[in-house]
Amino acid sequence: MLTKQDNELICLTGPDTAMGNAMRRFWLPVIQSSDMPTPNGDPKAVELLGERFVVWRDQDGRPGMYAEGCLHRGASMQLARADGDGLRCIYHGWKFAVDGKVLETPNVTDPKFKDRINAKVYPTREAGGLVWAYLGPQGEEPPFPHWPFMDVPDTNRINVRAIVNCNYVQVIEGLVDSSHLTVLHSSALARSNDSDLDYAGKISHMQFDSAPVIEADETDFGFHYVAIRQNNESRVARVTSFISPCFVANANGDVLLMLVPINDERCNFYHVWWDAAKPIGEEPLRSEQLVFVGLDEPTLRKYGMTEDTWNGPNAMSLPNGFGQDKLSQRKGHFSGFDGITQEDAACSISSGKIRDRSQELLCSSDLAISRLHRCLLATARAARDQQEIPALRARLGEAVGVSGEIGPDNDWRGLVPHHQITSSPRGRSGQGQ
Ligand code: FES
Ligand SMILES: [Fe+2]
Repeated sequence: MLTKQDNELICLTGPDTAMGNAMRRFWLPVIQSSDMPTPNGDPKAVELLGERFVVWRDQDGRPGMYAEGCLHRGASMQLARADGDGLRCIYHGWKFAVDGKVLETPNVTDPKFKDRINAKVYPTREAGGLVWAYLGPQGEEPPFPHWPFMDVPDTNRINVRAIVNCNYVQVIEGLVDSSHLTVLHSSALARSNDSDLDYAGKISHMQFDSAPVIEADETDFGFHYVAIRQNNESRVARVTSFISPCFVANANGDVLLMLVPINDERCNFYHVWWDAAKPIGEEPLRSEQLVFVGLDEPTLRKYGMTEDTWNGPNAMSLPNGFGQDKLSQRKGHFSGFDGITQEDAACSISSGKIRDRSQELLCSSDLAISRLHRCLLATARAARDQQEIPALRARLGEAVGVSGEIGPDNDWRGLVPHHQITSSPRGRSGQGQ
């Protein structure tokens, strides 16, 4: 449970909010490379943390991110002309390179004028199928994180984005909530018995034991937690890491999940799977994986989770019953949704655009949810009080998620020996206490 004030502190990310300022201190994914304009193509507007920007590639393919309003008198750069080495505002023709250099100011006679000013652009990087940007104070960007998926070729990676019409925190909560898997996703887990996918093999044991033992530690990057399930003779430990401010390394060990607020009531949900050996980014593996979890294009569109459908009639809402199929539920499907992604999204969205956490009742299996709240509060308070944000000192890309069988006397922390634990508060839940 959180007070209304603390709830706002972690959920609101617009300009000049505590969490918004904290998020702006990290490198964040802005758009998938595949959704970026082609070199010298049309500029594209994007919304992030409640602000609007324009992304573009120059003729050499260099990505750039501009504040939406032109430096001169604020006309939208979305209207600008793609002009080879820069974007030219259509109002008075000022032209800006992706690095912020002002190339031309045709309505000013002084030729040196343009050399004294800079366009409103943000540092960008492109890696792992994503364009990343830093939106914080100039010159204070942290080292660019090196995530493992940045080392594999495009053929060995799956990048996909879903749009979820609710605050980013409630989506992250679902990702650090192991006990719901056995229930909400029970029909999908049952399907995993007949699937050859690696993914299916990694999750099928979660059909058993709906009250896993949960333990958590705070770490330099945020926190990690374990869910230990007993299945006959074996004890399977799933360690998930929450990496500040909005990244989750899933316990399957091969997927990073990123929840980046578009605004306070909508977020981009990026998934990146990678496999050093298998070309999972190629067909048919790519589609098989995406269909299994409900992230294929037709399913995302069916539930209004894409750029062109999030505001349409199919977008999950109270009037359309969140897209649930009650008939299929009556016939035996547990949830009545097509995929794992939609099951999660329906639970997140239906609890409110920004869930009121002063009204919830956490139980012992919600230990990791409490850790998440604590971690987000510490991050937001540090930014509000102009203190150093703890995770900025960590090597974020080295935090992992991992699963493995452990013996009755083994400590699960042996699965993540390189994680820097900063505090190990009391925290056991579920069976086995
Ligand atoms: S408003 Fe853009 S050049 Fe004047
Ligand atoms: Fe889920």
